[in-house]
Parts: sequence; structure tokens; C-alpha cells
Amino acid sequence: MEQTDVVAAGSDMTLVATRAQVPEGCMRRFESKGRSWVIFNDGGEFVAAADVCPHKGAPLSAGEFADGVVVCPLHGWEFDVRGGECVSMPDWRGLDLATVVVEGELVYVVTSTPPSQDRSREG
Ligand code: FES
Repeated sequence: MEQTDVVAAGSDMTLVATRAQVPEGCMRRFESKGRSWVIFNDGGEFVAAADVCPHKGAPLSAGEFADGVVVCPLHGWEFDVRGGECVSMPDWRGLDLATVVVEGELVYVVTSTPPSQDRSREG
């Protein structure tokens, strides 16, 4: 399934991976502009989030990812990567998501996206 997005003029896209580097059901950590991010391949759809647990800051990329849910390695809270919500503690702040743009085999992330205001979507 092709994933595209409209990126506003002046947006800053960072090439983070090829599709093959993040197989379905896997995640991959990357750095951009001094921040750590993690990209998930959820059933062929790519989602990016800050690699920081909203609870106490543990790196989510060190946890487990399956069925669209990432489990924090520190206290085991679960987050739905599609919407960013904390499944374990629904009133808690969710993941800081970023826009993903897929062009052919290349996966980009718009790292300047304000947290939780814009998300990857299909086109
Ligand atoms: S630091 Fe992630 S659940 Fe506590």
C-alpha cells in the first residue's frame, strides 16, 4: 500500500530508511537534529514517533513492538502507534508522532512536525 502525504513548503524531510530496512512488524531507531526517533512498520504502514516514552523517558525502540502496539521497556506501558494513545493509561499523554512520507522505496520523516499534531496518512 502506498503511503503519501502533502508536505508544506519549507517542511524539513529527513530520509530515515528504505522500506526493506524496516520490515513489517518491526521498528527502527534513528537520529535527526539531535533527537531520537523510532519508525514502525505496522502492517505495511509506516509511523514515526519520538523515541521517548511519555511516562519517564525510556527509549521505546528498546521495547517490544507487535500488532501495532509498542511496549515500553521500563515499566511495560503500551502505546498504540497509529494514534499514539497510551493503552495502559488512557488519560496519560500519548506518543509524539511525526509525519511519514514514503516515496518509492524511501521512507522520510518530517521531523519538524509539532508533536501529536500531524500524522502519517494514506494518499
Ligand atoms: S518509562 Fe515508559 S512506561 Fe515508564
